[in-house]
Amino acid sequence: VEYSFDRPIDPVQLQRLLQTTGWAADRTVEEIERLLSGSPLVIGAWDGDRLVGFARALTDGVFRALIDDVVVHPACRRSGIGTELMRRLLERLNGVEEVFLRCGAEVVPFYERLGFARASCITMDHVSNDEENGHP
Ligand SMILES: CC(C)(COP(=O)(O)OP(=O)(O)OC[C@H]1O[C@@H](n2cnc3c(N)ncnc32)[C@H](O)[C@@H]1OP(=O)(O)O)[C@@H](O)C(=O)NCCC(=O)NCCS
Repeated sequence: VEYSFDRPIDPVQLQRLLQTTGWAADRTVEEIERLLSGSPLVIGAWDGDRLVGFARALTDGVFRALIDDVVVHPACRRSGIGTELMRRLLERLNGVEEVFLRCGAEVVPFYERLGFARASCITMDHVSNDEENGHP
């Protein structure tokens, strides 16, 4: 498996990967192109020409970093790819004051192993924004 921050990511391949998730299954190729060009830090994992893993961070590089869209192809899970993607992303974010993410309860152990802990502060969602996006 090859990891890279620089190798171009094919939006169609990323769309297929995201279709295996619960939160990003309906993103269009155009939206994914904007996601890629708008994210300062994106990392991919390839098995040959096949994109098998992805993660990204939105960050100013100093104070805040939001990690999002961490995904490994279902057939390739539990072989260390997710850990390696996160390890490399966290290395790039070294020194950033707050590095955070949102996740489901089922992956809490995965992130705990990587040094994350449950936050004590409250996350607020802008509900009207969610409604406009079709998320109740
Ligand atoms: C979460 C995810 C990215 C992990 O990727 P991965 O390549 O399977 O992770 P790794 O092989 O590096 O796992 C390392 C360790 O994390 C833990 N872990 C990984 N996935 C886990 C899960 N679903 N539940 C509990 N522990 C998990 C295990 O301890 C695992 O070690 P082990 O296999 O020796 O037991 C992957 O399962 C995935 O894509 N899930 C669907 C999308 C998702 O939920 N992403 C997170 C969004 S916030």
